[in-house]
Amino acid sequence: MKTYDNIVFREALSADIDTIAELEKVCFKDPWSRAAIRDEIDKNPMSLYMVAEDTDIKQVIGYAGLWQIFDEGNITNIAVDPKRRREGIGDRLVGELVRNSMERGMISFTLEVRVSNSPAISLYERHGFEIAGIRPGYYVDGEDAYIMWLYTEERKDNK
Ligand SMILES: CC(C)(COP(=O)(O)OP(=O)(O)OC[C@H]1O[C@@H](n2cnc3c(N)ncnc32)[C@H](O)[C@@H]1OP(=O)(O)O)[C@@H](O)C(=O)NCCC(=O)NCCS
Repeated sequence: MKTYDNIVFREALSADIDTIAELEKVCFKDPWSRAAIRDEIDKNPMSLYMVAEDTDIKQVIGYAGLWQIFDEGNITNIAVDPKRRREGIGDRLVGELVRNSMERGMISFTLEVRVSNSPAISLYERHGFEIAGIRPGYYVDGEDAYIMWLYTEERKDNK
């Protein structure tokens, strides 16, 4: 695993929209459009998007985003440039997104993931997410989604 001296994790800016839209296209079967990404970053006050930027090459190589719904974070997408996978960047992105979200008052997190997407499921499980249910035929091609939840210690303490 690489060290992270050259990778910064920061909130996404308008200048990142094109790169994120390009990464969507190479990372997903059913990518969000550039307009949808722009709305998320420039307009949606409930969204939080973070990027991983390699400062050596001044390039965004991954991103992760969510919607805040009261004290819950609904993770919308996370992706890492296929050329930069297995370097620990997805792992750091999830950690930074959750940490940053908790600073904004979010205490539990949920997401949907394709049942066949074992890399992502494994990544989320490393961060404490658990499979809580299934949404049959959730994706446009008919694949089912797992619903996963992460309850942080703050949420557990308040229950
Ligand atoms: C899922 C994804 C973001 C992981 O990013 P990454 O930077 O390669 O992940 P990391 O290197 O940080 O790996 C962290 C952990 O994730 C899991 N993981 C990542 N890739 C994996 C793979 N190909 N197979 C199995 N587990 C994998 C492992 O638990 C890994 O820990 P380990 O390296 O100690 O085994 C990346 O594969 C991706 O962009 N996929 C396409 C988009 C996608 O499916 N997003 C999820 C939508 S719900």
